[in-house]
Amino acid sequence: MDDKDIYSGAAVVIPAAGSSVRMEAGRNKQFLKVSGVPILARTISIFKEMPEIDRIIVVLNPDEFDVFRDEIAVPYGLTDIEVVAGGADRQSSVYEGLRALDDMPDDAVLLVHDGARPLVTPAVILDNIHGACEFGAAVTAVPASNTIKITNSKGFSVQTPERDTLYEAQTPQGFRIGVFRRAAEQAQKTGFTGTDDVSLVERMGLPVRITKGSRRNLKITVPEDMIIAEALFAQPDPKC
Ligand code: C5P
Repeated sequence: MDDKDIYSGAAVVIPAAGSSVRMEAGRNKQFLKVSGVPILARTISIFKEMPEIDRIIVVLNPDEFDVFRDEIAVPYGLTDIEVVAGGADRQSSVYEGLRALDDMPDDAVLLVHDGARPLVTPAVILDNIHGACEFGAAVTAVPASNTIKITNSKGFSVQTPERDTLYEAQTPQGFRIGVFRRAAEQAQKTGFTGTDDVSLVERMGLPVRITKGSRRNLKITVPEDMIIAEALFAQPDPKC
């Protein structure tokens, strides 16, 4: 069966409207180059090459629309990408992206993928699309490699959850778009802010499938991540 037989269209919302304070570069980290190409151009291009993806919405700070056009869209042939203005936090930015997709039917697939994750692969994305189609919502994740501590407000460790129940969430996070619409509306109504996209669905008691992530699917956040990303781009994924 062709992938497209199981859903009517797929879109990806790429939030890239953050201020990148932790990168300490004085500008949006997603415009920085890794191995000669801006991070955001790399991220968008991966989705653009995939026949499964029909629409790409990039969410930006409106002050950066011109920089996006001059440094990313024009030089890298991405002028057909839809751009919308983001909000004060990541969840608001994703919501703005969702509103641009009002015309998509409820059974279409929505992926949300951080602009700052340029090392995602088509295999990881496809696995997430399949999880979203089958279960309504799916999060790309990897098993936690560190022991995680629950602490109290006074700085003491009070509990150690069993590591084999813990996963580190990545993106893409995928949905039947109707499921995400309901979850986003509910979050708006109740003033809930989650730290990722699927947490809005978990809150409604609906299933969220774990799909296979990769340790290479790094979110570039701090200056050290630029060094790691350069090294990863120099050493292509043997599984791709
Ligand atoms: O800050 P962090 O890297 O965790 O943010 C994840 C993604 O969400 C980034 O790609 C960032 O640009 C985006 N974001 C956004 N709007 C905000 C805050 C973050 O699109 N207001």
